[in-house]
Amino acid sequence: MFLTLEGGDSAGKTTQAAALEGWITGLGHTVVRTREPGGTALGAEIRSLVLHGDHVSARAEALLYAADRAHHVATVVRPALERGDVVVQDRYIDSSVAYQGAGRVLDPEEVRRLSTWATDSLLPDLTILLDLDPAAARGRREGRATEDRLEAEPDHFHDRVRAAFLALAAAEPERFVVVDAALPADEIAARIRRSVEPRLER
Ligand code: TYD
Repeated sequence: MFLTLEGGDSAGKTTQAAALEGWITGLGHTVVRTREPGGTALGAEIRSLVLHGDHVSARAEALLYAADRAHHVATVVRPALERGDVVVQDRYIDSSVAYQGAGRVLDPEEVRRLSTWATDSLLPDLTILLDLDPAAARGRREGRATEDRLEAEPDHFHDRVRAAFLALAAAEPERFVVVDAALPADEIAARIRRSVEPRLER
């Protein structure tokens, strides 16, 4: 089973991915928890280029995320799924469609096609969208020393990203579950477990 977590910056995906990993492991499955960008050694280099480097033009940014994804799927995700493991992944194709498509204003369908080619059409079985108002997300980052290149984008960029995620979820209701990320973390975790449980193979 291939599970992805999506949402804006500071929505709590990392916390929820860790909780989900613990719970699924406790049910007796082998879990591979991973993330994009940066789930491989090559990906870690791409991650530092794309998040902490100088200006990256929009199409180059889309290609860098797609390159990270191609290598990650080929060397981590597909091998894990072939072994029968459960993959819990922080961000995937939907992040590119939302951030590079709606955020950077590239053609979202072209961005999707790029990732579809990069991954040889691997789609998640279930995607959990943690939905949070960008102003609340920015409040959560207050007091943190630095923001990365994407986090530092203005609120209207993050508003477009949020709207794009919600539109993706509405278009594919059988793949997506939307959870209000303003809820307490343990309530979010409980809702996620309720949506994952019926889909896990025993
Ligand atoms: P993430 O690792 O979730 O951030 P954090 O370091 O806060 O945990 O994601 C890094 C950033 O990359 C995030 O701002 C979203 C962005 N991103 C894209 O723009 N496109 C993509 O395809 C992906 C996977 C991430």
